[in-house]
Amino acid sequence: MKDWLTARRLDSLYTALQQRLSPHRVLHTLGASQMAVRLAAVWDVDPHEALAAALLHDIGKEIDGEDQWARIARAGVEVDPEDRDFPGIWHAILGEAIAKEEFEIASPRVLRAIRLHPTGDDNAGDLERIVYLADYIEPARCFEGVGELRLLAETDLTAAYDKAVIRKTNHILQGNKRRHPRSKRARLAAEQRLRRSEPEKTAAAGEGRRGRVGSRLRGKTAWRTWPATEPSRPTSHDSGEHQRS
Ligand SMILES: [Fe+2]
Ligand SMILES: [Fe+2]
Repeated sequence: MKDWLTARRLDSLYTALQQRLSPHRVLHTLGASQMAVRLAAVWDVDPHEALAAALLHDIGKEIDGEDQWARIARAGVEVDPEDRDFPGIWHAILGEAIAKEEFEIASPRVLRAIRLHPTGDDNAGDLERIVYLADYIEPARCFEGVGELRLLAETDLTAAYDKAVIRKTNHILQGNKRRHPRSKRARLAAEQRLRRSEPEKTAAAGEGRRGRVGSRLRGKTAWRTWPATEPSRPTSHDSGEHQRS
């Protein structure tokens, strides 16, 4: 991916963002990109892949739903039958097609991270977790607990991802919306992992030992510049795109 990221390609990417997305979504995309690169550095993930996936994750978002489906069909990308009845995630499939065709992204990891960003997955890898989280906790997001989640993302990627999955699906449940089967599976796996890891962390803390938190920092120091608590102003986060993003 290092060779892929030329100045000309970056220029065409930024032009595409400006031409196809509203200013607020460009802001969201740039914020997600910043967060994705930052987390990639902490977790030893290729920053070029993280940047590519984050920049393109919502590139098809502002195309009308019917048109999204038509373009997906034209592109000939393989569609998971589970995705057909969930128009809210079609933009992710289209984003994958655009990334492949227009921006010549061949990395299956990047394409999968774009495809899975609205739902998560019970078997998500580090890049997918990073892009999912970056979409959810980028700097323009403002909701209760976002500060803690940002800090956690830099010390325990799995726990942060699991908590993000649960929060997002809570929102869907509260709204009485149908949950995508992949979201359900991601939530179930997240709940199981958190149940397993919490007693371990409690025991480790009780023995004065270091728990799992921070164990994956691999000798790096997490940045500590995020606010530990969320800003006090009211948030529009939960009315944001994260259930459809
Ligand atoms: Fe999205
Ligand atoms: Fe997004």
